[in-house]
Amino acid sequence: MDYSAITTQFNKRYGREFSLYASPGRVNLIGEHTDYNGGFVFPGAIDKLIVAAIKPNDTEIVRVYSYDMKETAEFALDEKPTASWALYIYGVISEISKRGLKVGGFDCVFGGDIPIGSGLSTSAALESTFAFALNDLFNLGLARIDMALIGQAAEHNAVGVRCGIMDQFASVFGETDHLIRLDCRSLEYELVPFHPKNCRLVLLDTQVKHNLAASEYNIRRAECEEGVATIQKKHPQVKLLRDVSLDLLNDFKKELKESTYRRCRYVIEENQRLLDACEALKHDNYTEFGKKMYGSHEGLSKEYNVSCKELDFLVSIAIKNGALGARMMGGGFGGCTINLLEESHYAAFVEEAIAAYKIEFNKAPKIYEVKIGKGSHKIA
Ligand code: GLA
Repeated sequence: MDYSAITTQFNKRYGREFSLYASPGRVNLIGEHTDYNGGFVFPGAIDKLIVAAIKPNDTEIVRVYSYDMKETAEFALDEKPTASWALYIYGVISEISKRGLKVGGFDCVFGGDIPIGSGLSTSAALESTFAFALNDLFNLGLARIDMALIGQAAEHNAVGVRCGIMDQFASVFGETDHLIRLDCRSLEYELVPFHPKNCRLVLLDTQVKHNLAASEYNIRRAECEEGVATIQKKHPQVKLLRDVSLDLLNDFKKELKESTYRRCRYVIEENQRLLDACEALKHDNYTEFGKKMYGSHEGLSKEYNVSCKELDFLVSIAIKNGALGARMMGGGFGGCTINLLEESHYAAFVEEAIAAYKIEFNKAPKIYEVKIGKGSHKIA
């Protein structure tokens, strides 16, 4: 990403000296809505970033300019700002101080090239950028896992979305050309090399901003917790849906609301799909991997009910065009589909998807080609 506009703005507003930090957005190949259930996810950081130029200013005040919003925010370290984008920064500061660590005020200009509201985790990238930068500038001694957890807690407490750990983890821990198979219960992870032969990943952005996402997201999480609470009464060792097999869930089918049962079943099945998909990848079996992606979409759309007609349409175009796999990605209700294609199908698929989507919805989807890039880092 060309970040010269950000550094130029910093020079204009706050002077010549600064440090420069970056954190990426993420894709997730499979394993959706499994993270907050203690399951597995399979994300990778992407080569789209939030970049921040920052300098401590020896006060207790934060002064930030959002290059993309063309807005400034100024707030004391312990004062909740009004601008919604500044809440993420405030959230990170506040979670750091809850850990008994101290940061000072700073001046900052930040911006990025992650499309906002497209399910590529701009918010996690923002949180990770500040957790990483403040750790470095104020010598906080945080480990990477602390930075990810601080970002997640900021999202819960300052923003109000009870997200899992996937996005912040991928943003902080990403490695070039590697996906991360993360166990969200133990937080153990494995870096899986990802350079599929003769295949390509492409994202199609429905251009539907996921407005419903925050409220419906929290509702889905509560439904999963309700399922666990019911099962726990007879099986106290069950703490998360990860601890529940399909057979055990079925024993409780009559006691659960129909929708709660379906949500829980989706999560248990999705977790298994991820394990099977990772096994297929070990043998370079992209056909099988792709089938699991389609299965994931089917579940997200019909059982978990977090898709929308635009996402379903793009997945149906992928099926028609012989894509190996396709699914909605992230929280849902809009944003992108992620598609796995043989190189030879790529051009025709993209052309057809644009044309068909235009006819159906009167607008074109955006196309993003992403590379798997590295996690939070200092640029200079
Ligand atoms: C959002 C959340 C993640 C995860 C996904 C769905 O991106 O931030 O924690 O739950 O949705 O898999």
